[in-house]
Amino acid sequence: MNILLIGSGGREHALAWKLARSPLCDTLYCAPGNAGIAQNATCVPLDIGAPQSVIGFARDNEIDLVVVGPETPLVEGLADHLTDAGILCFGASKAAARLEGSKAFMKDLCRKYHIPTAAYGRFTDPATAKEFIRQNTLPIVVKADGLAAGKGVIICTTQDEAYSAVDDMLSGQKFGQAGAEVVIEEFLDGEEVSYFALADGKTVLPLTGAQDHKRAYDGDQGPNTGGMGAYSPPPLLTKELEEKILTRIVRPTIDAMAAEGCPFTGVLFAGVMVKDGEPTLLEHNVRFGDPECQVLMMRLNADLADILLAAAKGELETVAPRVSWHPLAAITVVMAAQGYPDAYEKGTEIRNIDLAELPADVKVFHAGTRSEHGKILSHGGRVLNVTAIGETIQTARTKAYEACAKIDWPEGFYRKDIAWRAL
Ligand code: AMP
Ligand code: GLY
Repeated sequence: MNILLIGSGGREHALAWKLARSPLCDTLYCAPGNAGIAQNATCVPLDIGAPQSVIGFARDNEIDLVVVGPETPLVEGLADHLTDAGILCFGASKAAARLEGSKAFMKDLCRKYHIPTAAYGRFTDPATAKEFIRQNTLPIVVKADGLAAGKGVIICTTQDEAYSAVDDMLSGQKFGQAGAEVVIEEFLDGEEVSYFALADGKTVLPLTGAQDHKRAYDGDQGPNTGGMGAYSPPPLLTKELEEKILTRIVRPTIDAMAAEGCPFTGVLFAGVMVKDGEPTLLEHNVRFGDPECQVLMMRLNADLADILLAAAKGELETVAPRVSWHPLAAITVVMAAQGYPDAYEKGTEIRNIDLAELPADVKVFHAGTRSEHGKILSHGGRVLNVTAIGETIQTARTKAYEACAKIDWPEGFYRKDIAWRAL
């Protein structure tokens, strides 16, 4: 079959790399892609925000399956447009993508279906929001309802901080329409794990978990980012904890979405806080994590095209026996442009990526690159994901850092302590 992958980050490079290995995949396209993805797919400069441009390309190129990587096109309804046009799509419908696109929707669903999550209130009026803040204990978490590129969550340790977060959001100054409503919730303490499962509307196919590092600098210091590194499997995720996450959070969510008339198809990424072995849902996402996806794809011992096709067709049950995980550990280290997550330079040259990925157990996924006259140039904040597998997290980590050291990119930086919790 011909597959069109939507997206341009490290997550999509990992998906492209895995899809390209499938015997089911004839031609793989990626829109818009990046310099690394171009090694696995034909990159096409489509406007992924314009459903008609994606539909037109899919028709002209006999695309059998569209796989949507990022959340924004899903929240905007790309899967619905494709489905209406008779094109098979792996990704949540607009109604189902509200799980990520509206925190208020997600929280109300949890309340209605008894899914464990932090206590909360939702507000559009600043005075009522502040009254709620006064009645609750600190720290307290203020969240913009809509998509805010990972910047819409403020953990506030003082009342004043929480008031300003509310004002910034509700005034529309910080996040525009995404901040027109806020969710204010109880602060949860514990250790976070990212858990992934596929769903086809009714059946759940559990995948596995990973842990990432959100802060920019070593020691989990500095500003929040999209993620500076990840590893899988996380030692925290015991069989017992996984079973709790599935029975208390993942399956009830998929059942709830079906009961609400918006069945969920795609990948459900539950961000879970774990305290004393008990999981509480922090957030749902309707996509693979980035960079978690990169370590998952290194460990997946199955044909990704086969699985995603089955999910899109509503036949997930049939592939479950064919999915397993390499017992190896995988780790990815994000190389970012200096300055990220604030202002950074683009267009700086990166050398020796080929040298870094010479060992068979190392793969460098591109997150934000473009090529020009045979050179690889940075083209984003998070730029490379240096990924390795090994017998243990420690051996995988050593290989990943050896590979990082070979990459010649003076304008980049990376954390030196990825997976410290696991070690
Ligand atoms: P989100 O944008 O919902 O993915 O949240 C981003 C990050 O904020 C999460 O990964 C957590 O680290 C943190 N966070 C969100 N909600 C809470 C909470 N209720 N308590 C503690 N930390 C939270
Ligand atoms: N790495 C966290 C995320 O993708 O949201």
